Amino acid sequence: MRIVSGMRPTGRLHIGHLLGALTNWKKLQDEGNDCFFFVADWHALTTDFKNTSQLPENNREMVIDWLASGIDPEKSTVFLQSAIREHAELFLMFSMITPLGWLERNPTYKEMRQEITDKDLSNLGFLGYPVLQAADILLYKGEAVPVGQDQVPHLELTREITRRFNNTYAHIFPEPQPKLTESPKINGVDGRKMSKSYGNAILLSDSTADIEAKVRTMVTDPKRARRKDPGDPDTCNLYPLHETYSPSETIQNVRKGCRSAEIGCVDCKKMLLDSLLPKLGEIREKRDHFAQHPKRIDEILDAGTQKAQKIATKTMNEVKKVAHLVS
Ligand code: TRP
Ligand code: SF4
Repeated sequence: MRIVSGMRPTGRLHIGHLLGALTNWKKLQDEGNDCFFFVADWHALTTDFKNTSQLPENNREMVIDWLASGIDPEKSTVFLQSAIREHAELFLMFSMITPLGWLERNPTYKEMRQEITDKDLSNLGFLGYPVLQAADILLYKGEAVPVGQDQVPHLELTREITRRFNNTYAHIFPEPQPKLTESPKINGVDGRKMSKSYGNAILLSDSTADIEAKVRTMVTDPKRARRKDPGDPDTCNLYPLHETYSPSETIQNVRKGCRSAEIGCVDCKKMLLDSLLPKLGEIREKRDHFAQHPKRIDEILDAGTQKAQKIATKTMNEVKKVAHLVS
């Protein structure tokens, strides 16, 4: 199956990205699918066109985290969105056939326009963001798109744009399906959504000492105000990490010990670190390797761009043909 997905270049990634996206990307890759993973750098401008100076570094750090998490450039095509001009060209084509109402109704758009007041979002680029996303996917004729739940409305728009294009000109595009990542919800150390901007995230690049310090401050079940108070793992902010990283024996011990107050949160956090540190250590080692070989990253992106360009050229020729822009 042709798999396409992208990520905005937010710089260094955290374990929320790992569990919410990268693990799924890797699984699809290792199952032998034809995967295209790109850095959505144009998308970064849709919400912040004024601050672009950090882009090169953010792009690079993110690709390093992908590779360290097991995205294998021998198997998957990894590239930068803006390096392939056809993303912009197909976006223009799709912008002709997308009714404004579809975009204005988009729940993410409405929410962000209300919530975000410190940035200038009254731009065509921001409103048209899902159209660019549709172009990203269909340029490679993506059949499945691994994304989180929050992207489902965007995928629905992609499918509507696909149908409208196919019905207007010719049936050349598949209707891409979302491939949702099933992962337990991992919150930040303070219990809010994990996000770099909240400063509550465990980063893939964190050192052992960083991770230990963050886990130590992590909020747990508020019912366990004292050591002897029993708790409930199912309402604990830390427990989902055990579910993800600990062996089943530890999980059983935690579930029992927490409810009976046989173990305290300090013990529980130690057990978590025993499971977490080796796994994140492996990623960090690979990360350090790539960080020391910047030329290798450029080679990987160049090779990915070449592979993506071939398909992009072909699709765009086809689009222009059926829309009578070339004869
Ligand atoms: N909109 C996605 C996000 O914010 C990123 C993205 C851009 C994307 N283009 C895409 C995801 C194409 C999947 C397919 O996370
Ligand atoms: Fe959470 Fe563990 Fe404390 Fe229970 S013992 S509240 S699962 S940290």
